[in-house]
Amino acid sequence: MEPDHKIRLVTAAMAARECAVAPYSKFKVGAALLTATGEIVTGANVESASYGLTCCAERVALFKALTDGRKDFTAIAVVARMTGGPTPCGACRQLLAEYAPGAVVWTADTRQPRLVREFTVAGLLPAAFLEVPE
Ligand code: THU
Repeated sequence: MEPDHKIRLVTAAMAARECAVAPYSKFKVGAALLTATGEIVTGANVESASYGLTCCAERVALFKALTDGRKDFTAIAVVARMTGGPTPCGACRQLLAEYAPGAVVWTADTRQPRLVREFTVAGLLPAAFLEVPE
């Protein structure tokens, strides 16, 4: 992984965060996925008046990328205004385990974008449920 990728991806996640639709929590999150071919696909959280329908930034980015025919994700950056940056929720961890199992997960606080924490998808969701038995 080029060291450059980390800064590029965090920067893309910061820009995507500006488009978050979070009128209820006011907590804006941005995400950016990197494909093996170097493409970046971004997302931001979208909330609903029916709170449970909310979709996290990570899933928005993943769904955008997948439905655009992209796969082979090597990294995802997630940013928000919180210490250390936001680690993906359980639902997002599940989808990352299924569709981006080899991705490095970078998280950063928008106030300190150069201070990036690093995780693996397997580390965030050990013993993931990956397929329905026949
Ligand atoms: N959220 C994300 O988008 N990603 C995370 O990693 C954590 C939580 C969103 C969901 C909701 O819109 C708001 O943050 C508060 O939970």
